[in-house]
This record gives sequence, structure tokens and C-alpha cells, in this order.
Amino acid sequence: MSTNVDHGQWSSRLAFILAATGSAVGLGNVWKFPYIMGENGGGAFVIVYLVCIFAIGIPVMMAEVLIGRRGRLSPGNSVRALALEAKANTKWSLVGWVGLIAGFLILSFYAVIAGWAISYIFESAAGNFVGASPEKIQNIFNELQTDPSTLIMWTSIVLAVTGLIVGKGLKNGLERAVTYAMPTMFVLLLVIAGYAALNGDFAKTIEFMFYPDFSKLTFSGVLIALGHAFFTLSLASGAMMIYGAYLPQKTSISQSVVAIAIADTVIALIAGLAIYPIVFGNGLEATAGPGLVFVSLPIAFGQMWGGIVFGTLFFVMLGFAAFTSAIAMVESAVAWLVERLAFSRGKAAFTAVISLWFVSMLTVFSFTGAEWAKLDFVFVGKHVSNYFELIDHLTADVLLPLGGLATAVFVAWIMQKEAVKQELNLSEGLFNLWYVTLRWFTPVAVLFVFLNLIGLMSFGS
Ligand code: TRP
Repeated sequence: MSTNVDHGQWSSRLAFILAATGSAVGLGNVWKFPYIMGENGGGAFVIVYLVCIFAIGIPVMMAEVLIGRRGRLSPGNSVRALALEAKANTKWSLVGWVGLIAGFLILSFYAVIAGWAISYIFESAAGNFVGASPEKIQNIFNELQTDPSTLIMWTSIVLAVTGLIVGKGLKNGLERAVTYAMPTMFVLLLVIAGYAALNGDFAKTIEFMFYPDFSKLTFSGVLIALGHAFFTLSLASGAMMIYGAYLPQKTSISQSVVAIAIADTVIALIAGLAIYPIVFGNGLEATAGPGLVFVSLPIAFGQMWGGIVFGTLFFVMLGFAAFTSAIAMVESAVAWLVERLAFSRGKAAFTAVISLWFVSMLTVFSFTGAEWAKLDFVFVGKHVSNYFELIDHLTADVLLPLGGLATAVFVAWIMQKEAVKQELNLSEGLFNLWYVTLRWFTPVAVLFVFLNLIGLMSFGS
């Protein structure tokens, strides 16, 4: 195995922050967060989610970036190198491997949803939303779902473009893609939120999102909030480790991580504020599931002044946000192929997206309702009815929390404290706070939620 590959580095601290934010901000914020918040009752879910971001997500993200920067290799190999440094068992490299696999599996459905976003660029530009009734807009969405060839076409385009960007390499591909997309996306979300506040049911939205009703929260809701905190910050899926591996030695890990997490959280909340006034104002269901954003926002674009322009731009930006995440999801697999099989980046990227294409068909045919893609069983506390739900649940609610737990244990219990301290360069007090959180709070909290769910412990519901 070749572990002396030099993958290169980010050109600046800002480049890292933009790329990592680009990886964090994506469909998770705009598509997933609003609908899982709706399915899990709103306010109380939001509070648990925020606690998970700040008390678990940020500490774990610091741990991941630190592993990457010290190891400077693909996730599995970085953890392996650090295990050797700590004279621990090299099987710990599994922590990196699970991440790489989770990232791969997530991309298999992420590419399909990104495909919806891209197809909506054209729907919007063609004026199909203008003046359309909620029913008509629901039909546009349903039609997209029932036609496998359209879904396959968009998914293939997304994967091909992802492969091309990743194949071009660090500086040419990744950095450029994020520099413009992030700020534009942010401004557009604000425009939509402003429109929604004036024209939709804003009062009900505020109550729904920020007035916690804990009777609506279940244990499975808590696990979903925890899993989503990992998902939205791109944790336990290889990305932060591999992006950390390209981080210059002098950059402060803690400051960068806090900035990334705050940007990500703010964007998710604004997405909620943009979507829910329209949902409530038009009598849509908060529990609509994965189609929520793709039905609610077009209604707003169809009614607002300049809706064609704003709508088209919005889906262009959502597409960008999805691509800056998608590239981070394959990056670990690509780096590994380069290290292990000495592939060129281009060949590695091509290999990865071709394999992904096959796995993504499981999701495509879940949405079209093909018989063979239907499932019917309970898996870790949740009933799954097709492959999309299985992969989504397996990654976000199982692999990510457990991967995060393993990362925390590895950094806080296995690595030498001195090595960890060196990378972080924090004041004594802050370091200890972080270390104790990672050592005790993170593992206990994740285990508590998880064991409760699979019924090995029973507190509460
Ligand atoms: N954070 C991304 C989002 O919110 C999704 C994601 C999960 C991800 N794991 C990742 C992105 C790994 C890049 C790499 O949309």
C-alpha cells in the first residue's frame, strides 16, 4: 500500500472553510431538514437538533479534521497511521472505512435528489410554475417521480458532472465551485424567506419551529435529530477527515469548525423560515416527506413577482450546493483509489461514479414505486418501505451516529493526549472542555439514544 502519496493542500484557510462549508451546506439543509422537522413535530425537534450540533457535532468535527490533518491520507489510512503512532491496534482504521462507505452510500441517493433540483431549473425557467395551483405543482412533482427514464437521466448527469469536477483535482475543481455558489445561495434563501414572511403564514411558522411541544417528540425523533446533526455537518462520512488532510498546518481547526457549523445551522433555519410560511399558507402538509421543498417553493415562485428568475436561480444554487457536497462524498473514495491502486485522479473519479450509478438505481426505483424496490420490515426502530428509506436510515441514523461515536472514542481514548493537543492549539480550559465532552458526553449520549431505540434500554417512550 502506498501511504506516501502527497495529495496537495488547500491554497488558504478560506479555501478550506469554503470547501468544508460547501460540503456541509447542501440538500441536507434545504431539502432534508425542513421535512424531517415537519415529520417530527417542529420546535422540540429543532431544540434537540441544535443541542446535537453544538454539543456533539462541533466536538466530533474537530476530532475528524484533526485526524485528517495529522494523517494526511484517505480516512482509513489516516486513522491507521495515527493508530500506529499511538501504538494501538490498526483495526481502528475501520473508523475511517465506515466513513468512506457511508459517504458512498449517501451519495447514491443524494445524486437522485440533486437530479430533481437540476430538473427543476428547467421547469422553473420554462415558466411551468407561473400561476400554477398547488395541485398542478404537486402533479409536476409526481410526474417526475413516476418516470424512471427522466430520473435516470438527471441522476446520470449529476454523477457525471461530479466525476468531472473531482477528476480535475483539488484546486481547479473544488475550490472554484464553492467560492460563488455559497454566498449566492444564502442571498437567494433570504429573498425567499422575505417573500414567504410577507405572503405566507409566518406567525404559524415561528410557533411551529420555535415553540417546543415536547409531547410531540419521540425517541426515534431524537435519533433522527442526532443523525441529522451528523449528516448536515458531513460528519462520519469521510469528508471532514479528507478535507482536513489538505489543511495547512497553521490553520486553527477549532475556529474554522465553529464557523462552518454556524453557517450550516443558519442556512438550515433560514430554509425552514422560507418553506413553512408557504406550506401553512397554502394548506400543504408539514408531514409531506421528501417532496416538501419541491412542492412548497414552486408555489411561492409561481405567485411572486419575478418568480421565474428567482425560482430558476434558486434551483441553480441548490444544484451548486448539492454538487459541492457530492464532490466531498466521493473524495475519500477517490483519494483511496489513488493511494491504493495508484490510479490517476481522473480514472479514480470515473471508477467511483460508475459504481455509484448502479447503487443509485435502488433509490431511483424506490421513488418510481417499482415492486422490486419495495421493502417491508423494521430496521433499528424504523419501518422501511423501500431501498431509499433503508439507505437513508442506515446511513443517517445508524452509520453516522456510530461512526461519530467511534471517532470520538478513537481521538479521546486511543490517541495520545499530547498529539491531540498539538493539533488543536487551544487554551487549557477550552481544550479540557472539548476533551471531556468527546471522552464522555459524546459516547454516552450517542449510546443512550441508540440503545433506547433498539430497545436494549427503555427510558421514556
Ligand atoms: N452535509 C451534506 C448536506 O447537508 C450531506 C452530507 C452527508 C455530506 N455526509 C456528507 C456531504 C459527506 C459531503 C460529504 O447536504
